[in-house]
Amino acid sequence: MIKEKILVIGASGQIGVELTLALRKIYGNASVVASDLREENELLKGTGPYVSLDVMNKEMLHVQVIRQNITQIYLLAAILSATGEKNPNLAWSLNMQSLLNVLDIAKEEKIHKVYWPSSIAVFGPTSPKKDCPQQTVIEPITVYGISKYAGEFWCNYYHQRWGLDVRSIRYPGLISYKSAPGGGTTDYAVEIFHEALEEKKYDCFLQEDTYLPMMYMPDAIKATLELMEAPAEKITIRTSYNISGMSFSPKEIAAEIKKHIPEFIISYKPDYRQQIANSWPQSIDDSVARKDWGWKEDFDLSAMTKDMLENL
Ligand code: NAD
Ligand code: SER
Repeated sequence: MIKEKILVIGASGQIGVELTLALRKIYGNASVVASDLREENELLKGTGPYVSLDVMNKEMLHVQVIRQNITQIYLLAAILSATGEKNPNLAWSLNMQSLLNVLDIAKEEKIHKVYWPSSIAVFGPTSPKKDCPQQTVIEPITVYGISKYAGEFWCNYYHQRWGLDVRSIRYPGLISYKSAPGGGTTDYAVEIFHEALEEKKYDCFLQEDTYLPMMYMPDAIKATLELMEAPAEKITIRTSYNISGMSFSPKEIAAEIKKHIPEFIISYKPDYRQQIANSWPQSIDDSVARKDWGWKEDFDLSAMTKDMLENL
């Protein structure tokens, strides 16, 4: 059996911390190298190797891949939707160049597998709002969405042209308690839990009836690992898979939190992120992921809310 050695890029971020810990459980601590531009996350300290790495520096990335005998790469570094609108050039540059650097090195070094996440942000106002299908009209309005959509086609290109085994999921908004979100439009669904526990009130930056596709982090980690473990012949989508967990509005999540914290109050002050949220679908059709590699979520809104409040 081939011994895999995995490099996680962007390991100190919201997904990176939990994904690195999950990969270390499967492959062993020494076989998963965490890396990031910022300092090592507290939860990763002492659990395995960490290197400081700027993914934009292709030479340094290449050196690390060779030096550490890397066989799989998980690329999580990105600028998300809300932060991206504040600096579109930077978001385009990081989101695109990081992927091209990784794909190029992966091709050259014959890396076994690459993972790179896309997002529901690829969809735009002309995509279907309900049960948005895998293949549909895709006209994103954010720089983040444009970069993810272009990235999906680069993944497909490297697979078709050079046989690179690169796999991807269009994550919905992710909700977690271990590490903080990094500047997305769906971040309200994490902030609300912290504010509910600390202040018993929350001023939401989206309107009460804004439905968005969401997912609890344990489901996102499960989906990622299942996709990456699936036999290559089961993978029919080489752009990026739709996956779905749940769909709710700020009003609905507030009502769910109120069941546990009756004095909790929510108010609404929509800002520039409302327009981004309005452009995305409210729910996602993930039947292709279910058929190809058996995807099924574990958490609905009520189970996720209970677990978040118990763990925070
Ligand atoms: P995050 O912002 O929390 O983490 C990204 C990490 O990348 C950070 O720790 C950051 O320091 C690091 N990074 C930034 N620039 C870097 C560079 N030049 N070199 C090395 N590291 C660098 O983001 P996240 O929420 O963990 O998202 C991870 C991936 O998942 C991204 O591609 C994102 O688009 C995608 N995604 C996330 C969500 C979500 O709700 N969190 C939803 C859909 C898709
Ligand atoms: N959660 C992410 C964002 O809001 C979706 O990709 O940007």
